[in-house]
Amino acid sequence: MCGLIGYNGSEQAAGFIFTGLKKLKYRGHDSAGLATLDGDRLQYKKDAGKLEEVERRQHISQLPGHIGIGHVRWATHGIVNRTNAHPQLDQCSNIAVVHNGIVENAFELRRRLETAHSFVSTTDTEVIPFLIAQYYNRKGNMLAAISNAIEELHGPFAFLAICRYTKDKFFACAREMPLLLSCIPTGCIASSDANSLPDDCNQAYVLDNGEIAEVTAQNLIFYDRAGNPIEKQPETLMRQIGAIYTNSTEHYMMREIREQPYAIEQSIGQNVVDMQDAARAIKEAQNVIFTACGTSRHAALMGRYLFSRVGKRMSEVIIGSEFKYFSEVISWNSVVIAISQSGETADVLDGVRTARARNAKVISIVNHSTSQLARLSNFVFPLKCGTENAVAATKSYMAQITVLALLSHYLSGHQHDIIQKIKALVPLVELVYETNLKHAESLARNIAKHNVCYFIARGSNFHIAMEAALKMKEVSYIHSEGMPAGELKHGTLALIEKGTPVVAICPDDYTFNDTLYNIEEAKIRGAFIIGVSDKYHSVFDEWFKIPKVEEILYPFVAIVPLQELAYFTALARGVNPDSPRNLAKSVTVR
Ligand code: G6P
Repeated sequence: MCGLIGYNGSEQAAGFIFTGLKKLKYRGHDSAGLATLDGDRLQYKKDAGKLEEVERRQHISQLPGHIGIGHVRWATHGIVNRTNAHPQLDQCSNIAVVHNGIVENAFELRRRLETAHSFVSTTDTEVIPFLIAQYYNRKGNMLAAISNAIEELHGPFAFLAICRYTKDKFFACAREMPLLLSCIPTGCIASSDANSLPDDCNQAYVLDNGEIAEVTAQNLIFYDRAGNPIEKQPETLMRQIGAIYTNSTEHYMMREIREQPYAIEQSIGQNVVDMQDAARAIKEAQNVIFTACGTSRHAALMGRYLFSRVGKRMSEVIIGSEFKYFSEVISWNSVVIAISQSGETADVLDGVRTARARNAKVISIVNHSTSQLARLSNFVFPLKCGTENAVAATKSYMAQITVLALLSHYLSGHQHDIIQKIKALVPLVELVYETNLKHAESLARNIAKHNVCYFIARGSNFHIAMEAALKMKEVSYIHSEGMPAGELKHGTLALIEKGTPVVAICPDDYTFNDTLYNIEEAKIRGAFIIGVSDKYHSVFDEWFKIPKVEEILYPFVAIVPLQELAYFTALARGVNPDSPRNLAKSVTVR
């Protein structure tokens, strides 16, 4: 959730780091800060607020020196204020740390350390510089101090540290949290996200298992968690997709909605042997369980439907954070399919680790191929849709359902058919984007006046209702619920008043007639009906027209106008859709 960057090289470190931090803002942030080494002077500046506000007040990018570490914070422990912003320092301000993750035993560590030191923040992070300082004072060696300190930390972490006594380097360390390191022409860098590395940087070393890196201006030296030197191999990074859509004044969310045809085209190209092997494992497994969070879970719901309808294979979907409560049914004979854009969602990783511990096979459908999820998987199917910046997922969802459509057809042995059908679908996704854009913009002005919005659908379209509701609530702050149309009369109908928007996703498939009954039930109680269909019906007050496609492909076209509607409703309510309050793109805490 927090973003980290460190730099050591010939450029002014703070300026370099500040530029990188700007690319991490999408992860969600409420404070920012930077620390640099200028000779043996350790200097730092930080504050609560957005990165630009902090820069305006504190001029963090102006700090002197060629070695530095920077941070954007998304608060988990301790309120948002200047003291709790990173870097956090030890009591003598000799060591500064920026951190992502949670120190699960921070309370116990604080109680122990408090007998000799005074803490100033209410963060869990502050114990890290205190612990490092404690060991440094005994050993006079930063590497050994970090190695000892991390043995005491419970929970996943990634952090960068500078020390005024080791003035030619900074240190990086990570366990179960992303941290990438790379050498570039002007020096060496560390970052929590490939997105913030310079564009021409295509390879990076990934730290894990408490590995430590010493980052000098010329090279990277790696150690295991005990401080023994190790060799590491660099990995190839996923880069932003070629700048086909380069209107830089546009919100990421809109740009990513428009990139969806490209995302489909890219994601349909998967490794044939891996697909065949994964399909075989799924067919032979005793149970098949999807696990995911947020939008990725909605893709998993589509996966369940496709597996059953196309692949004739029953499966279950368990939300990432609930997975461990079902662990008893997981065995060597289970297949767990984890879906995640980032591959770093803590709840999903927890579930996958549980599955691995019980010897299940893990298949991941993931955008970031250097992510921890990818590392934990037996089969990895990359989404290939390029970096997704907006907090609200759009193109990654489209790529996820494309991969799931493909995999389900590998189960049935009809993969060649679906590849052709999906290719033919691409121009239709473009078309549905274009034809509904203006309509979504004008309708959004009406929706924006309401405090609730309901989304209903049946069958395979049900998960679209869930996803559309999530999009709407994430970016517009309108309370939105997606539900099976048939459930409306079991409770929600009580909330329908004159003018309440009800979006009904009812393409002309096997769900059309039944959904119409439910629409009528809402309409006669005053609901304002927005139909999403390829077939007009007089019950609609507004109609998003979608192209006629095969039943299982409706979700690909039906979601697009609803993404647009959410986007424009956010704008109509004065919300920046790229960075909704309280939310983060990558949720790396439980
Ligand atoms: C956060 C994001 C959502 C995303 C969810 C799961 O809540 O704001 O957009 O769907 O995490 O993320 P993942 O990276 O695992 O797909």
